[in-house]
Amino acid sequence: MKSRRRVFTAWLVCIGAFPGLMGLDAAHAQSQSLDVLHWWTSASERRAADQLSALLVPAGVQWNDAAIPGGGGMAAVKVLKSRVLMGDPPDVAQLIGSTLTEWADVGLVLPLNAVAARQKWQQALFPTVLSLVSYKGEVIAAPLGIHRINSLLYNRHLFTRLELSPPRTWSEFENVARKFSAAGIKPLAWSDEAWQIATVFESLLLAEAGPALYQQMIVQRKSTAWMDPRVEKALLRLRWLRSLSEMPVEQVWTASARELMTDSAAMMIMGDWASGELMAWGANPNTDFACVVVPGTAHMHLYSVDTLAMLVNARHHEALQEKMAETISAMPAQLAYNRIKGSVPVRRDLGASTLAALSGCARDSWETFASPNAARVPSLAHRMAADEATKDAVAQTLWRFLTDPRMEAQEAQKRLASVIRTP
Ligand code: BGC
Repeated sequence: MKSRRRVFTAWLVCIGAFPGLMGLDAAHAQSQSLDVLHWWTSASERRAADQLSALLVPAGVQWNDAAIPGGGGMAAVKVLKSRVLMGDPPDVAQLIGSTLTEWADVGLVLPLNAVAARQKWQQALFPTVLSLVSYKGEVIAAPLGIHRINSLLYNRHLFTRLELSPPRTWSEFENVARKFSAAGIKPLAWSDEAWQIATVFESLLLAEAGPALYQQMIVQRKSTAWMDPRVEKALLRLRWLRSLSEMPVEQVWTASARELMTDSAAMMIMGDWASGELMAWGANPNTDFACVVVPGTAHMHLYSVDTLAMLVNARHHEALQEKMAETISAMPAQLAYNRIKGSVPVRRDLGASTLAALSGCARDSWETFASPNAARVPSLAHRMAADEATKDAVAQTLWRFLTDPRMEAQEAQKRLASVIRTP
């Protein structure tokens, strides 16, 4: 990786990214602030990022915000690419999962081995998290929090009004959905944004296929596994969900969460950042909403881990970047950030009282992630298991299947098998 880094550094010099000739002094003058590119722009995301920024102040690090709106980071990843190509990479970027290793491969990412050793990440972090931020023997990002994708949020007022219990199985789900429809209430809030469809689908797939087949399809990328009849079932369920109500076109995820908040929709299948958002708007998880896992996925954790990578660039802020990595992975930032974000700490050293103070959803998420008997499976829609291009191709195929009633489920299975083939 180091020699690749030298190549990349030389390339940056060639394209004029280094200020050497323009005056190093100017670069050093801003040496206390770090440019952070991320896509946390909703109310809760913004608040969580501001919380990190505030915690960095005593450490002498100023967070210079370069936020790019767009749920799931679709736009942010493109902007990051173009900034790198223009020779102006930010100091820090929200790079997650496979994107992280792609960038590390071209030498863009600063190794954080010293921070990891000083902070004893080997002992403090969940092994799944540590392995996600490790590549070719180096630690390449600072982990912030673990999101659970297989979360089903529901509106407590509407469930109470219709005297219903949250569904634990798909037949219960069908039953409550029918009752809400009959009462003129939208059963499920979502939209046809490709990444939202992919987010819902992977939970359905996990529910139907179980962790072993899911791993074969998503991690080992066995094309034959995609032809399993259980995949067809998950695809048909996706279509059935769409048939429940008029589906808004390209509605952002916060607008879907708003439907849940305003008693206009009863349920939402979304990463648990949606619960952070509801709380940021003033909803109370004890009285207004709650969450259970998506039916059929109990004891399974479909995860997406948020990470910040420190990028190699001309400004040479390594000491400051290490300081940031150290601060955000330490307990105070972990607790403060994740409480707002709806996610859970990446650390396994939470005490009993800290655990007890987490919301019900968060506690179940952390305990499931920590349990040796639970299945931890990576989210494809959120870059944990495939590169950007593969993830986009999968999301587009699902979008096509959902919006084109002429496409048979088996045709979609064939297409999915071919786009996700072993790289
Ligand atoms: C990120 C979350 C973010 C969500 C919605 C996910 O990919 O991991 O941090 O809140 O997208 O933007």
